[in-house]
Amino acid sequence: MPRLIGEKIILREFRKDDLPFINSFTTDYEICRNLSDTFLRNHPLESTEKYLNSILENSSNDNLNYVIAEKDTLNYIGSIDIMNINWVARIGTLGIVIPQKSSHNKGIGTEAINLLLKYSFERANLNKIELDVNEFNLGGIKCYEKCGFIREGVIRESQYREGKYYSTIKMGILKREFTVET
Ligand SMILES: CC(C)(COP(=O)(O)OP(=O)(O)OC[C@H]1O[C@@H](n2cnc3c(N)ncnc32)[C@H](O)[C@@H]1OP(=O)(O)O)[C@@H](O)C(=O)NCCC(=O)NCCS
Repeated sequence: MPRLIGEKIILREFRKDDLPFINSFTTDYEICRNLSDTFLRNHPLESTEKYLNSILENSSNDNLNYVIAEKDTLNYIGSIDIMNINWVARIGTLGIVIPQKSSHNKGIGTEAINLLLKYSFERANLNKIELDVNEFNLGGIKCYEKCGFIREGVIRESQYREGKYYSTIKMGILKREFTVET
């Protein structure tokens, strides 16, 4: 898997020593409230290690898994994945997490997504990348819109947070709509 080199960041392969960083956000409510209900449950280091090992063993042909890293040091900043690739319709689902809030709103998410979209469309020959985002995740939605994702639909009251229901927004981008030069 080639590294994907951006201006500020690099997308690199996972390594064994990424384990504590991958797990770090699972106890942080502010991060987890943006993610799926999987993160309602405990994520001990042992289960994260199994997940990491499955990536290291390259056990699935249907995912592209990258670490978002500092360009100079290769230090872990976050992770980004294209998951559940349907190789017939050539569609994959994007997931991204940057655990440290101090790293948010600096353009890292936008740069990482653009790098992976370019690779997905121009090398892996995918035709569409889609994602789900909670309606209250305004930073996430802004980031996806900057990358060219379009709102395709709303799944009403599909999320429950702090005693209230929220909708999920479905977004997608087609290969022919991707115009960003990386
Ligand atoms: C979502 C996430 C990946 C975005 O990455 P990022 O590096 O923070 O994104 P960027 O800085 O590239 O873009 C964020 C944009 O949203 C804007 N923004 C942030 N909070 C906002 C708010 N409450 N309302 C409107 N815009 C907001 C930022 O100003 C920025 O826009 P700008 O570049 O025009 O100023 C990152 O914040 C993250 O990992 N969050 C926690 C986990 C998560 O939500 N994952 C996605 C689940 S779908």
